[in-house]
Amino acid sequence: MSALGEYAPVSLPTEEILDRIAAAKKKLGQSTIILGHHYQRDEVFRFADFSGDSFKLARDAADRRDARYIVFCGVHFMAESADILTADDQSVLLPDLKAGCSMADMADIDQVLDCWEVLGPRLSQSTIPITYMNSSAAIKAFCGEHGGIVCTSSNARSVYRWAFERGDRILFIPDEHLGRNTGHTMGISDDEMVVWDPHSPVGGLTGDELERSRVILWKGFCSVHMTFQPEHCDRMRERFPDVKIVAHPECTAEVVANSDYSGSTEQIIRLVNESPPGTPWAIGTEHHLVARLNELLPDHEVMPLSPFACNCATMWRIDPINLMDVLEGLVVGKVINRIIVPKEVADPALIALERMLANA
Ligand code: 13P
Ligand code: SF4
Repeated sequence: MSALGEYAPVSLPTEEILDRIAAAKKKLGQSTIILGHHYQRDEVFRFADFSGDSFKLARDAADRRDARYIVFCGVHFMAESADILTADDQSVLLPDLKAGCSMADMADIDQVLDCWEVLGPRLSQSTIPITYMNSSAAIKAFCGEHGGIVCTSSNARSVYRWAFERGDRILFIPDEHLGRNTGHTMGISDDEMVVWDPHSPVGGLTGDELERSRVILWKGFCSVHMTFQPEHCDRMRERFPDVKIVAHPECTAEVVANSDYSGSTEQIIRLVNESPPGTPWAIGTEHHLVARLNELLPDHEVMPLSPFACNCATMWRIDPINLMDVLEGLVVGKVINRIIVPKEVADPALIALERMLANA
């Protein structure tokens, strides 16, 4: 029985699946690249030609004009963005179409249009919409059409700066916490940030609250990062007085305030890598990244911030079997699970994504 046996159908041992992935990848050669987000499981991540956070993967996709096929081992909004950023003769494939993102699902385009209508011409003229990468292509297109921009967790601060050079107020969709944490880094107080609840009439806000706000935060969150609590930081410091704590900015402001650092997955990796050997680290993000860092950096002590393993169920949907199916399909000329964003959405979304790439 293989150590990875739980992924394999009864008739196919996992080692055989992994061998078949390797063989298909070899046959496809340079025509195909595999992109892998840091939250992917190891058996998939090991096949990635390029790995990174969502900003870096978007750039990798945009830069690889020579690849005919881009197999995206990540989630749906990432594959959509890659499709928008690549040429028409390139195809982006997502090994499992159900690999979505519960946070991205917390904002739909009709709710965003309702919000914009409530803001009305007077407020919306001075409001710049920013959508986190974790959102649908339709919301990115809305931002492109309304003088807005896309951000990721690695460039949110410079995107806020960009927006405040063009308007007085930001509408930030869909992660309340990344929006709030970024506001804090720019000296914006909680009094100046209001939360728009898409399920309440007029967002649950008064006209006066909207008028006074500098940032309108969409009421959305990542359930993976919400599991971290400020008390986890306290407990880590009690047990390991020298510990350095880094939290992803999708964590609450209380967790970020109780951490030593905050940053995107790529920034977390850099921080740990650049620290002196022996440094104990407690990391508040998805556990595949934490476990991988722990394995790759045996001279460091890398621990999860919370004792409960914190898994992104949708990242997990990409597995060796659906990766194998997609690659073997390409070998015989069959394109499975292609992500296609219609041109009328892709064109304005590209404007917002290109603004994002220009604001690293
Ligand atoms: P980054 O990899 O950009 O830090 O984002 C984390 C995330 O939640 C991706 O869904
Ligand atoms: Fe979405 Fe959170 Fe999973 Fe990222 S970790 S894909 S934000 S659910």
